[in-house]
Amino acid sequence: MRFTSKRAVVTGGASGIGRATALRLAEEGAQVLIGDIDEQGAADLVDGSDGRIGFRRCDVTKADQLEALMDQADAEGGLDLLFNNAGAGGAREGIDTVEPGEWDRTMALLLTSVALGTRYAAPLIAKRGGGAIVNTASVAALASGFAPTAYSVAKAGVLHLTTVSAADLARHGIRVNAVLPGFITTNIFTRHLDIAEDARAQADGMIAAVAAKAQPIARAGRPEDIAAAVCFLLSDDASFVTGTSLLVDGGMTVGSRASWDPASPTLFEALDQVR
Ligand code: NAI
Repeated sequence: MRFTSKRAVVTGGASGIGRATALRLAEEGAQVLIGDIDEQGAADLVDGSDGRIGFRRCDVTKADQLEALMDQADAEGGLDLLFNNAGAGGAREGIDTVEPGEWDRTMALLLTSVALGTRYAAPLIAKRGGGAIVNTASVAALASGFAPTAYSVAKAGVLHLTTVSAADLARHGIRVNAVLPGFITTNIFTRHLDIAEDARAQADGMIAAVAAKAQPIARAGRPEDIAAAVCFLLSDDASFVTGTSLLVDGGMTVGSRASWDPASPTLFEALDQVR
């Protein structure tokens, strides 16, 4: 019960990583307000939460809606904790073909939303004497090949935003950290595909199979894996931790596949086989 009498806002809380985190926070005593554009997904969560989780419709690309979300949390009793997490894949094109408008929309969704969520929450958290913020970045912030170009750049921005926000907000007793998920099985991969339910189920099965083999730890990453890390960073267990990031990727970024996958031998192992 690390969050007894704490009040939290979670953006993108209707699904996946945000949903698992909202549930974990509530389970450990917090009162949670989720902001999301998915009203149906949120309703299911709120209904089963015994009053621990509330919902306000909030499109995180709209500054006024983010401000209203934070203000509602404040009006309902105050704000201590923020998880800036809402997101989607964004523009899929490479840097040589991406449309300027799509680039801007991706930055608004994945980077500016985190800046403005922090902007509107920080004075309210400061008023309570301090608290904590966690931002969702990604392994895509570290290297190419994990996600589309605009997404990767936005997530790298989230990492640096985390560092500078930690510096700006330490004087108010607010810690700011980031989590870097690896491959986590959520709705993010098929949400925007206009396909029938059975095709979606088939795609989800394929994703789960690929996810289980995408990293040294031989199982698919789950939203609960990220929720556990986020709740650590939001809790007093991390009271000396700020301006940093926590990779939760099952080892996906330890090195080349050949370094950990016996089915993908290194050059030296391959040469041994022909000797
Ligand atoms: P998800 O699709 O299950 O959940 C994303 C949530 O964000 C949904 O409830 C959606 O309605 C909401 N959302 C999307 N656009 C929004 C907007 N404009 N305003 C408010 N809410 C909006 O996906 P997941 O995987 O849980 O994604 C959460 C975060 O984790 C995202 O920032 C994503 O980029 C990040 N991430 C996910 C990884 C994965 O493998 N699933 C890996 C690394 C990072």
